[in-house]
Amino acid sequence: MNKLIVSLLLTVGISGIAHAAGDATAGQAKAAVCGACHGPDGNSMAPNFPKLAGQGERYLNKQLHDIKSGKRTVLEMTGLLTNLSDQDLADIAAYFSSQKGSVGAADPKVVARGEALFRGGDLTKNMPACTGCHSPNGAGNAAAGFPHLGGQHAQYVAKQLTDFRKEEGGRTNDGDTKIMQTIAKKMSDEEIAAVSSYIQGLH
Ligand code: HEC
Ligand code: HEC
Repeated sequence: MNKLIVSLLLTVGISGIAHAAGDATAGQAKAAVCGACHGPDGNSMAPNFPKLAGQGERYLNKQLHDIKSGKRTVLEMTGLLTNLSDQDLADIAAYFSSQKGSVGAADPKVVARGEALFRGGDLTKNMPACTGCHSPNGAGNAAAGFPHLGGQHAQYVAKQLTDFRKEEGGRTNDGDTKIMQTIAKKMSDEEIAAVSSYIQGLH
């Protein structure tokens, strides 16, 4: 097994934060304000707003805490989470997680390239396959907090990979292992575009 994956699995196991259990029914009302951008059921229509429907509860909860604390910058959400308690965040995470995620379509021109990267990585660059953590159908690993990717907007996915790749001012909330920063730094623009398009149609 890839060394990177082993160390990540260990870290996740040890540092997993115990959050309050979420109540999806209570979360639905608390999530009303989110619907304008993410869609009432978490299936956003705009390609720059991530779909939250069907996303792993643990992953969602972690992102909400990171966005609230400023560990992850989301300008569009500035101030929105300030007055929400840990219980509110857990309930909202449970609500969106309980919804069914929609799927888009991949660009036929790059689908083969995207699939090869997603399933095989690139041995010449020591880049691991995405399937190892995000699973072959893109469902992720909810218990481990590895996000669901299948059906996510390609534009949003590409922005995340580009942000993970940035040397400064990017997305750095991927834990002490810097797993996604390490992987994204191995990827070219062309590879990011192909794998993102493939993910949009994956289910
Ligand atoms: C004005 C639009 C807007 C509103 C309102 C909004 N968001 Fe967001 N949200 C965004 C954008 C844009 C991103 C992605 C930013 C980026 O590119 O990293 C995001 C990212 C997220 C993410 C991370 C998703 C992932 O896959 O990592 C979560 C979770 C989230 N929002 C939850 C919420 C919740 C809960 C609410 C309501 C309390 C909310 N958002 C309200 C625009 C919005
Ligand atoms: C060793 C495990 C691992 C591997 C391999 C891996 N990822 Fe990830 N990925 C993660 C984790 C963990 C996160 C969540 C980081 C965080 O908490 O922000 C993540 C987050 C992401 C996100 C952000 C999701 C969102 O909703 O914002 C994208 C996009 C992504 N990975 C794409 C990929 C792609 C493409 C590959 C293959 C080239 C890949 N990952 C390989 C573990 C992995």
